[in-house]
Amino acid sequence: MCCWRTGPCSCFTGVPWARPDHLGAVGWALPFDVSVVHFTAVSEHVLKNSEALYDRARRVIPGGLYGHQARGLLTRGSHPVFLESASGCRLKDVDGNEYIDFLCAYGPMVVGYGNESVEHAAALQREACDTMNVPAPAMVELAEKLVGMTPGADWALFAKNGSDVTTWSLAVARAATGRDNVAMVAGTYHGVHGWCNQLEKGFPGSERSAVVNFVWNDLDSLDRCLAVEGGLAAVMVTPFRHEAFSDSLLPADGFLEGVRERCSKHGAVMIIDDVRAGFRLHLGGSSQLWGVTPDLLLYSKALANGYPLSAMLGVDSLRSAAREVFYTGTFGTQAVPLAAALATLDCLEALDGPSVMREQGESLCSGLREQAQAAGFGVTISGPAAIPFMTFIDDSEFDLSRRFAGLCADGGVFIHPLHNWFLSTAHSAEDIEQALSITADAFSSLAQDREG
Ligand SMILES: Cc1ncc(COP(=O)(O)O)c(C=O)c1O
Repeated sequence: MCCWRTGPCSCFTGVPWARPDHLGAVGWALPFDVSVVHFTAVSEHVLKNSEALYDRARRVIPGGLYGHQARGLLTRGSHPVFLESASGCRLKDVDGNEYIDFLCAYGPMVVGYGNESVEHAAALQREACDTMNVPAPAMVELAEKLVGMTPGADWALFAKNGSDVTTWSLAVARAATGRDNVAMVAGTYHGVHGWCNQLEKGFPGSERSAVVNFVWNDLDSLDRCLAVEGGLAAVMVTPFRHEAFSDSLLPADGFLEGVRERCSKHGAVMIIDDVRAGFRLHLGGSSQLWGVTPDLLLYSKALANGYPLSAMLGVDSLRSAAREVFYTGTFGTQAVPLAAALATLDCLEALDGPSVMREQGESLCSGLREQAQAAGFGVTISGPAAIPFMTFIDDSEFDLSRRFAGLCADGGVFIHPLHNWFLSTAHSAEDIEQALSITADAFSSLAQDREG
């Protein structure tokens, strides 16, 4: 049986999703059997081409789909398996169904799919050059831009994925301090590398041997980590907790400040992993919302509006360690993502992106709250409004969440039942209004099911 109550299991190969509150630091399992089609599409919502592609995929791709795109994590039978095109905040699947999107490709699409300025900048750069022997000027321009807009940052380095920079930042911290141990909040998602992969399969335990865990919002537990023999090279935290399968949790008053003080006192590097939240809450790094400046700040998802790029920003005192650690990658000089990032940041600044997303997110969340109440469902809406998440109370196996997300997909709204959602600056008041009329119908159908 595949159930989080029975402890870690591996029946869903290659899909790491956490139930951190139950399973602790390491140990992931899904709360339901993903091989079952739970909720089939209603209305005219046909997914024939998606299903046919999935059958082909299963023959040539282990599991058909992998990672967080794995279909079992969405609502089987209602969510499309493959998408064909996207524009603004709208998606079209391979069967021609359209959706207002609140997942934004799991975060990257912060100024909208096909954003004109970003695509123009990317096209110009592509015409000039992309991957070459040495970088294009865009690398320097983006480093200057990020340093200029980020309190405390004196330099920037670039990679491709979030996992690249979470791992790289630990190497910089270790090089700077001469210490091995690093601390992270138990159950937090920092990517897929061996030291933090939340499934143990394929990674020797030794990769985690220098990682100690503490508890979110519990500074006493961090104090215990700081007392570890040899001390800590680094403490890595996300600006708020946003794990899948869990309501999001903001930092308690004084928590991030407490982490900051302790790192300074003990000579440990404070790392904020802003890979998921970056650029939606504050353009100087999400922890600025709580007045906290880390030593290393990590970005990826929203940095280049869908182009592959991540960044590590750091303080001057870590400059020589950053220079000494050897890091490189085949596509490290790629210039198009750098140009796209410059244009994305310009757009976000010009629009005051975080305010736009907060405002639209607040409309969405308050509408959902009212609809849930009117339909007699208890829901928890958590996280900042620009990165919201909704769960149903007393729905430990996410049946209601998956049915609700399925009904939304049938009606033309793409939300995730298990993972936080994302707003973009492409969501207008009209988009939110239209989405809310679809979610209202979804709540009504859910209520009818309950009665029936
Ligand atoms: C907070 C956080 N850190 C790191 C990562 C890993 O990023 P990537 O999937 O780009 O390797 C993620 C991805 O979701 C994330 O949310």
